[in-house]
Amino acid sequence: MATKILVTGGTGYIGSHTTVELQKAGYEVVIIDNLSNSSIEVLDGIEAITGIRPAFVQGDVCCIETLRRLFNEHPGIKGIINFAASKAVGESVEKPLLYYRNNLNSLMNLLECMPEFGVKGIVFSSSCTVYGEPDVNPIDETAPIKPATSPYGNTKQISEEIITDYITSGAPIKSIILRYFNPVGAHPSALIGELPNGVPNNLVPYLTQTAAGIRGQLTVFGDDYDTPDGSCIRDFIDVVDLAKAHVKAMHRMLDKEDTDAIEIFNLGTGRGLSVLELIESFERSTGVKVPYKIGPRRAGDIEKIWAIPDKANTVLGWKAEMPIDDTMRNAWAWQCRLAEKK
Ligand code: NAD
Ligand code: UFG
Repeated sequence: MATKILVTGGTGYIGSHTTVELQKAGYEVVIIDNLSNSSIEVLDGIEAITGIRPAFVQGDVCCIETLRRLFNEHPGIKGIINFAASKAVGESVEKPLLYYRNNLNSLMNLLECMPEFGVKGIVFSSSCTVYGEPDVNPIDETAPIKPATSPYGNTKQISEEIITDYITSGAPIKSIILRYFNPVGAHPSALIGELPNGVPNNLVPYLTQTAAGIRGQLTVFGDDYDTPDGSCIRDFIDVVDLAKAHVKAMHRMLDKEDTDAIEIFNLGTGRGLSVLELIESFERSTGVKVPYKIGPRRAGDIEKIWAIPDKANTVLGWKAEMPIDDTMRNAWAWQCRLAEKK
């Protein structure tokens, strides 16, 4: 019988790509999402790619009664991947309580339900934001955690602590914490991708919308950083590669007896790419020019950060494989498909 997994936030950007990979690997997926930052049509895309429509519960993970009903109606869930969270850094500064409430209550509810319903493990979506501005690059999982620069970033740090404290207290569960670097791109089918609400904050959706003529010009936030071309450096990781890491993590957590109850992995490519290099990659791979200008630095930005992904490579047996040009082509194909649908 297929192992049943609850994917919270499963109609979101990373959750939808992960659902596809879980289903392809033979897992049975139940999604819970309140559709606060995604659309029900994402299920059509998942079904078109995999031939399977995942079970879907429209509900809020912050409501423990909704969760208990879900676990009763879908008995036998063995693992959880918790994507459900609010994720806009700027908004979190304006609405900190919304962020603390949504991101922490949802996690605590899930943790509370796990022993009640016999769920063995939870994979948690954390972020390289917990490292702040690293003293050296690239960084592995032992790099120091720096004071958070936003309530959003703080929710990731606190979430990691909540999971650790709960397991240390003897709760009969396991957890794998995944620290994502910068997820970008879309499924190669162009049937699912990133669907930002309103004006995008993140680089790639802003870039593809500019290339599509929806935005007049992309602003590169700063070219006076201490980097070879002066723009910031990130570790851009393809979203499908990222999704596949979750399948490896789930397998390790549920099927291997001799692993630690809590494990942490960086998910990145190991390659730092500057903002200007990313724009070049987009133009090279799509043949589409992106009008851009250099603007002032964006407050709170990290200058450079990229990962040492060796632990995930060796322990999870996972490696990011997609060349960045292919990732940019997929992001563009998705943007074009969105335009067709309108
Ligand atoms: P997303 O907004 O596309 O997906 C999150 C989904 O969760 C959305 O579909 C939203 O409707 C849902 N959701 C939010 N609160 C909910 C609640 N209380 N109950 C039920 N559903 C709820 O975001 P994403 O980019 O797919 O990110 C997924 C996870 O990865 C988040 O935890 C995010 O913080 C983390 N992460 C993302 C990035 C990134 O750059 N995208 C980087 C590091 C970490
Ligand atoms: N950038 C621009 N112009 C834009 C948008 C972004 O130049 O219009 C630059 C930023 O200044 C930064 C780089 O592109 O140097 C990447 O910016 P993003 O907003 O795409 O990503 P961040 O690295 O700032 O943030 C991401 C996630 C956060 C997470 C963080 C972890 O969006 O959720 O990584 O470091 F906390």
